[in-house]
Amino acid sequence: MRIITTPAELNEYSKEQKKQGKSIGLVPTMGYLHDGHKSLIEKSSAQNDITIVSVFVNPTQFGENEDLDTYPRDLEHDKIVAKDGGANVIFHPTPSDMYPENYGTYVSVDSDITKILCGKSRPTHFMGVTTIVNKLFNISLADRAYFGQKDAQQLAVIMRMVADLNMNIKIIPCPIVREKDGLAMSSRNTYLSASERQEALVLSRSLRQAEDEIKNGETNIEKIKSDIRRTISASNIADIEYIEAYTFPGLMPCSEKLSGQTLFALAIRFGSTRLIDNIIVKP
Ligand code: PAF
Repeated sequence: MRIITTPAELNEYSKEQKKQGKSIGLVPTMGYLHDGHKSLIEKSSAQNDITIVSVFVNPTQFGENEDLDTYPRDLEHDKIVAKDGGANVIFHPTPSDMYPENYGTYVSVDSDITKILCGKSRPTHFMGVTTIVNKLFNISLADRAYFGQKDAQQLAVIMRMVADLNMNIKIIPCPIVREKDGLAMSSRNTYLSASERQEALVLSRSLRQAEDEIKNGETNIEKIKSDIRRTISASNIADIEYIEAYTFPGLMPCSEKLSGQTLFALAIRFGSTRLIDNIIVKP
């Protein structure tokens, strides 16, 4: 597995692969790789000749008081996970490689889908994501890019960008990977204390209950949301930011009754750690 650090070198590498008729899969990450990332890397390796994993903590998607400086980093461990998953290349640029002096171009999906859910408390977040993802697509010349459904709104925003800009890349959504006890895997789980981590299990429990309710025929969206809220409120340290339902991937407001593919999404704080989780269901 190669470690490439500059955009120019990665672009040369990818051009060479293309010349040889090889397909390229890209797995964009901010590093601190876990089994959720590994599942994306494995899927890409199964579907493409070459898999590139980008490891870059992207400053433009962090708000002023967010965790850019403390975001966990461990490149040596990332190399092991990426290699085990079948990656051919880790792309690990510096912030100044990606955003040199006088950098001035941002890509932004200018629609309600970036203003709802996480967009309410993180107003500039998705512009940072779509900007870096665009740059990674352009540099890597990837045919396919792999994104986890854990960040369902991010996935929907990227799918919209790719459609709106007629981008020549296929977005492959991948299911959420959970710990044995149900907690959705996230690099930010490392911030949780042992007791917060235990309390955080209310997220997956509430979503599992919602799934069961829906399987048993419940279609009233307000009822499903209020049952989720009740389960989460059983934890007295869970601070609810939102519990919402939207169509997926369009992220349009839902009607009262469940119909079509629907996202139930949560953002909940435990101490200073903000966790998100979701399910995508059909009636
Ligand atoms: O999901 C992430 O880790 C990041 O938002 C991404 C897509 C790598 C862009 O920095």
